[in-house]
Amino acid sequence: MAFISSGYNPDKPMVNRITDIGPKYYEEFYPPVIKKNKGKWLYHEILEPGICVHVAESGDELYVLRVGGCRIMSVSHIREINEIADKHCDGYLRFTTRNNIEFMVDSKDKVEPLKNDLLSRKQPGGCYKFPLGGTGAGITNIVHTQGWIHCHTPATDASGTVKATMDVLFDQFTDMKLPAKLRVSMACCLNMCGAVHCSDIAILGYHRKPPMLDHEYLDKMCEIPLAVAACPTAAIKPAKVEVNGQQVKSVSVKAERCMFCGNCYTMCPSMPLADTEGDGIVLMAGGKISNRISAPKFSKVVVAFIENEMPRWPTMTKAIKKMVDTYAGDANKYERFGDWAERIGWEKFYEKTGLEFTHHLIDDFRDPAYYTWRQTTNFKFTNAIK
Ligand code: HEM
Ligand code: HEM
Ligand code: SF4
Ligand code: SF4
Repeated sequence: MAFISSGYNPDKPMVNRITDIGPKYYEEFYPPVIKKNKGKWLYHEILEPGICVHVAESGDELYVLRVGGCRIMSVSHIREINEIADKHCDGYLRFTTRNNIEFMVDSKDKVEPLKNDLLSRKQPGGCYKFPLGGTGAGITNIVHTQGWIHCHTPATDASGTVKATMDVLFDQFTDMKLPAKLRVSMACCLNMCGAVHCSDIAILGYHRKPPMLDHEYLDKMCEIPLAVAACPTAAIKPAKVEVNGQQVKSVSVKAERCMFCGNCYTMCPSMPLADTEGDGIVLMAGGKISNRISAPKFSKVVVAFIENEMPRWPTMTKAIKKMVDTYAGDANKYERFGDWAERIGWEKFYEKTGLEFTHHLIDDFRDPAYYTWRQTTNFKFTNAIK
């Protein structure tokens, strides 16, 4: 397509430049019933999966229909969302902190037509465009990252693993039959963009091979001390290397010390480590961020490695389903995944889920590792740990 100027003048880049204007003020986009009753809500109820009602002091009601969002979406999909909002909600809508979409109406008689409209819309391949759900004690959207769609450091894909997992957990999205809400998150490398370190179940991309070293370009591409200082296990040191008969500055990596975090590649483009066979997935479990009953918890590694099996990751989704089903059948009401695992003991967690306990799961990172070992004779005999 021929170039079309927006009016920006590349010869005078600072002329007519608008900057530091910040985001739009959120009140500009409030539905009238929200604007009127802001800060004066009395109570709310979940009427059915995906549909909540909020009642204000004034007696006003706000019905909210929550539908799954795929997060990465086209402009045409957003236009369809707008079309629905125009038709049923006076043009108003919102996105949640887990990238679901919420359509809001101010009276009960508007709920059914909106619900029917949402559920009638499908992709050509058959998937729901706007599945209703994500409320209460079920499984809502998976917070996830860029994967192979856009990032340069991933060890797995985000959108693919998330679609495969939500297909397997779909019944829990549209229902509320778990002991408590169960948050699944996904990050494609251990930068952990998102919430994997604090989720009930987490999918994490993981490497298993040390970085390759592009000695020829390393000193030209990287600030060597930054790469050295990037390494959590001090596996990297500066080195002089001969390339094509010339001595160049570079680094050396002590492979036995490297745990494949990829942090050096983040700092230094000449240390790539992605690998088709080496890369895959770690599963973590038991994290939460709320303060309800127990304090917030980090998630713990429970599956050391699962291969990348594109495009449906069957081994991974099977392990996740097994964890969800075991928790659903065994935990008490209001118990989050981590509350349950800690109450029964992690040795029982492995026995009940049938997950394999391996040496990879034993913390070996610096002094704090010691505090994750068992300094008590209090344990249960299980057949999970041989
Ligand atoms: C005695 C001289 C210098 C000292 C003590 C010094 C110190 C530092 C320090 C402490 C940082 C921050 C590192 C970090 O937070 O990760 C830094 C970053 C940086 N320095 Fe220097 N610096 C010096 C000279 C220079 C020179 C001469 C240049 C450029 C010609 C330079 C370019 C940079 C750049 C580009 C960064 C940012 C790198 C990044 O963010 O990735 N520095 N320097
Ligand atoms: C292909 C060439 C280059 C690439 C791929 C590149 C890439 C990057 C990346 C990834 C960052 C980090 C941004 C962030 O984490 O927020 C960065 C920061 C920076 N780069 Fe480059 N860069 C390139 C060339 C240059 C050159 C030629 C200069 C200077 C002459 C430069 C100066 C800087 C400085 C000063 C920063 C730090 C900015 C800040 O932290 O505020 N870069 N660059
Ligand atoms: S988790 Fe890692 S690979 Fe994924 S988007 Fe963030 S930095 Fe990129
Ligand atoms: S991948 Fe991580 S552990 Fe390995 S050398 Fe790089 S920074 Fe160190």
